[in-house]
Amino acid sequence: MPTISISSLTKRFGKLTAVDGVSLSIEKGEIFGLLGPNGAGKTTLLSMLAVLMEPTSGDARVAGSDIRTQALAVRKSIGMVFQGGSLDNLLTARENLELHASLFAVPKELRARRIQEALELVELTDRADERAGNYSGGMKRRLEIARALLHHPQVLFLDEPTVGLDPQTREHIWAYIKKLAQAESMTIILTTHYMEEADLLCDRIALIDRGKIVQLDTPEGLKRQMGGDRVKLVCAKACGRQQLARMRKLPFIKSVAQEDGHLALVVLNAPKHLQKILAAVGVVEEVHVLPASLNDVFLQYTGHAIRNESAEDDAQAHWAAHR
Ligand SMILES: Nc1ncnc2c1ncn2[C@@H]1O[C@H](COP(=O)(O)OP(=O)(O)OP(=O)(O)O)[C@@H](O)[C@H]1O
Ligand SMILES: [Mg+2]
Repeated sequence: MPTISISSLTKRFGKLTAVDGVSLSIEKGEIFGLLGPNGAGKTTLLSMLAVLMEPTSGDARVAGSDIRTQALAVRKSIGMVFQGGSLDNLLTARENLELHASLFAVPKELRARRIQEALELVELTDRADERAGNYSGGMKRRLEIARALLHHPQVLFLDEPTVGLDPQTREHIWAYIKKLAQAESMTIILTTHYMEEADLLCDRIALIDRGKIVQLDTPEGLKRQMGGDRVKLVCAKACGRQQLARMRKLPFIKSVAQEDGHLALVVLNAPKHLQKILAAVGVVEEVHVLPASLNDVFLQYTGHAIRNESAEDDAQAHWAAHR
């Protein structure tokens, strides 16, 4: 039986349908990603699964329990790391963990050991008696993950686990997440709008847009669906109709588009066919060959890109807003 099964789950806020008839199953030990832009419905979907919000219609079972009728059993079997962060900044890291352990009724005789283990996992043992409010963003995130694990949940929900963190800290957190899924056979659902994060971490990814799952596959499967590599050719002058027709006749060229100052092609096995492509185009100033990315796949299915492609974009937006 899958660890999570979701059937036509829907959430409406007035006229807005935030989650629109989502159905899927997730197996034990799987790292499952929900990838989509701002407002796609990722947090709303997680909130229903974590019994923080009632669905408008549809059903779901989490770790064998029904989210509508067995909320308490669901709560006991899950851990959740929230998008906005939810630590008590006035308490020390250890006190935050003690509070959570008592809220989740971790037996008293186990508490000290579980807290120790969790702190070690996220490498915060040395800093455990400092106030959480003095922690850096990455340390706070690690502490939140440690906290979500204290009651040994079967399922872990991570809402944007690495948003706003520097690349090194993100890689660190990815390593913990992988370790958990492997060592503890924990089932993990995470939301993200970082392609790279979904690509590196997830066994399967659902692309979600406007409340609907538009595609679901492994990262490789999704990229395969793009049907080729992207080639960008910057030409000295715009291509004539004949040149374009000649290129479209080549069997390994899937599509040709004339864009702002360059030609954008989708090509099967581009590195192998580059010579023939160049022969068909004539003189070019620059050639770029890019492997298919999840963003291309998203674009293909939804007609628009996921806004932030990387943490660097986020950091830039953050600094621009604070200047
Ligand atoms: N409590 C609420 N009341 C009304 N509308 C809501 C509520 N919660 C979410 N929404 C709306 O539902 C839609 C989906 O929001 P949600 O937070 O699930 O998106 P998300 O995919 O998590 O986005 P982000 O990447 O920005 O976190 C949005 O249009 C949002 O404004
Ligand atoms: Mg969200």
